[in-house]
Amino acid sequence: MNKILVIHGPNLNLLGQREKDIYGSATLAEINAKLEDVAKKSGVTLTFFQSNHEGEIVDTIGKSSKEGIGGILINPAAYTHTSIAIRDAISAVKLPTVEVHLSNIHSREDFRHKSLIAPVSSGQISGFGVDSYLLGLQALVNLLKH
Ligand code: DQA
Repeated sequence: MNKILVIHGPNLNLLGQREKDIYGSATLAEINAKLEDVAKKSGVTLTFFQSNHEGEIVDTIGKSSKEGIGGILINPAAYTHTSIAIRDAISAVKLPTVEVHLSNIHSREDFRHKSLIAPVSSGQISGFGVDSYLLGLQALVNLLKH
């Protein structure tokens, strides 16, 4: 139960160079390193996965419970707003899942206000930059311990 799958959706591989005014200057590697620091202190291990392809994310979620994963931390990026397939995969594996976003999706364009992932997630953290990930991981750890 102490294994957590961290999923980064499309274009998050470009963090550090992509729209820094919206997403900040941290690279994905830097975010992952900060997550590792929290994980070490919390006694959990992390597996990282980034993909720009919806089906790969669906596959990774689908096999997660058989691989001993206890919970999922996910930034589904643009698929947040479009992917019934990712939503159904999360619903199927029934693992505690925390949805995170660097930017505040509710204060941006209308098409970002709707998350298809939120209804199958334990909760959503949005708008705190890298802290969204760190707070999300802490929340997931607390869920798994209680
Ligand atoms: C994002 C917000 C999404 O709307 C967007 O498509 C992203 C990143 C965020 O972390 O703020 O790619 O998930």
